[in-house]
Order: sequence, then C-alpha cells, then structure tokens
Amino acid sequence: MTWKNTADQWGPVSKLLHWLIVVLVLVLAVVGLTMGELPKTPKYFWVYTMHKSTGITVLALVLVRIAWRLYAGAPKPVPGTPTWQSRIASVTHFLLYALLLAMPLSGWLYDSASGLRPFRWYGLVEMPKLSPPNEGLRGLSHDAHELLFWVLVALVVVHAAAAFYHHMFQNDDTLRRMLPGRRGARNPG
Ligand code: HEM
Ligand code: HEM
Repeated sequence: MTWKNTADQWGPVSKLLHWLIVVLVLVLAVVGLTMGELPKTPKYFWVYTMHKSTGITVLALVLVRIAWRLYAGAPKPVPGTPTWQSRIASVTHFLLYALLLAMPLSGWLYDSASGLRPFRWYGLVEMPKLSPPNEGLRGLSHDAHELLFWVLVALVVVHAAAAFYHHMFQNDDTLRRMLPGRRGARNPG
C-alpha cells in the first residue's frame, strides 16, 4: 500500500483529510448558525471558543492538505470523463480550497478586529490577533464570513451532486475511489 495518491486512486492521507474536513465543516456550520441564539451563560462563551478553535484546526488541516496535494499529486479523471467535465471539476476544487482557507481567515479576522480578549485554542494556546480593533474591518470580515459560507454551501451542493451523478448515472469510480478502503480498484487505469 502507498500513502501517496496514484494515477487511479486517492491514497489514505488524502481520503482521511477530505472526510475529516467535511465532518468538521459540517459541525462548524451547525454550531456557527445556532450559537448566536444561546443564552448568555458561561457555556455561550465556551461554545464560541470551540467554534473558533475548531475553525483554526480546519485552517491547519487545509494547509496540510494543500501541501500533501502538491507533494502527492492527484489521480487522473476516471477514463471516459469528457475534458469539459474535468475542467469544471478542477475549477470547483480550486474554489473549494480557496473557500476552505477564506472561511477560517475571515472568522479569525472578525474576531481580531472586534477587539475582544484573545481566545485560547481549545483553552491551551493564546491565538495572536490578525489586526488591531477596527469597526470597519469588523463589519467587513463578519459579512465575508457569512457570505463566503453560503458560497461554500452552493459549491459543495454542486460538488456532491457531481460525485453522485458519476456514481449513479455514469457508474464509474469517481466517488468510490474517494471512499475509505480500496473500493476504487474495480476499474483501475
Ligand atoms: C472552516 C471554518 C469555519 C466555518 C465553516 C465557519 C462557519 C460559520 C458560520 C456558518 C457562522 C454563522 C454565520 C452567520 O449566519 O452569521 C459562523 C459564525 C461565526 N464564526 Fe465561524 N466558521 C469557521 C471558522 C471560524 C474561525 C476560525 C473563527 C474565529 C477565529 C470564527 C468565528 C466566528 C464567529 C465569532 C461567528 C459569530 C458571528 C456573529 O456573531 O454573527 N469562525 N461561522
Ligand atoms: C465540506 C464539504 C466538502 C468539501 C470542502 C470538499 C472538497 C473537495 C476538494 C477540494 C476536492 C479536490 C481534491 C483535489 O483534487 O485535490 C474533493 C474531491 C472529492 N470530493 Fe469532496 N468535498 C466536500 C464534500 C464532499 C461530499 C459530500 C462528497 C460526496 C458525496 C465528496 C466527494 C468527493 C470526491 C468523489 C472527490 C474526488 C474527485 C476526483 O477524484 O476527481 N466531497 N473534495
């Protein structure tokens, strides 16, 4: 078994990072959309710190993922995929990476520009501020955090729909080879 990606298969590192980030983004989305409604008890601040800490964790994981992607490459599109489809897939994947960076960065900028006390990552490490308190930047980064999230949702819907389309209608290995295990080996090359 190789840890790297091959011409027809995603390796375990890329698979693990893909699905771990999917789960964390889902949790961040649910918590992010509901935490504002919580009663202002100490738990409220704990939930915010958890959201911020997990968002920073996603930022770190995405940086590792991009570095690994540059090092380990990616499988070729499954045989028979039209060029226009693989071009759209490449653009979508690039935008997904950009949004996975922009989401945590806009959140971190919003937190910094708000002039709050620095938060500690899972209560352990004090995170630096990205900017001094700034009302204009606070509003801008808040709006960006919200808007970029809905752009991410739209892209993920298209992305997941494309994966299911390949699986159900093209009956190819595009989805299977991103799932855990060696399921993509059915149609190698
Ligand atoms: C991939 C990473 C992240 C995702 C997917 C995410 C998602 C979200 C979502 C969906 C909301 C609700 C937006 C709304 O409707 O108002 C939200 C709010 C928030 N996020 Fe994030 N977030 C991420 C990272 C971060 C980070 C790293 C920080 C700070 C260090 C952060 C700080 C906040 C804060 C303070 C709010 C509340 C905004 C308000 O009070 O209206 N987020 N986040
Ligand atoms: C937060 C949600 C998601 C994000 C941010 C995301 C992001 C990405 C990115 C950036 C890639 C490109 C990998 C590369 O070329 O480096 C990718 C590949 C892939 N994703 Fe997702 N994804 C998400 C959810 C899903 C879901 C729900 C599915 C399936 C239903 C899925 C199926 C796939 C598959 C099959 C590939 C490999 C495509 C290929 O081999 O060409 N993803 N994903």
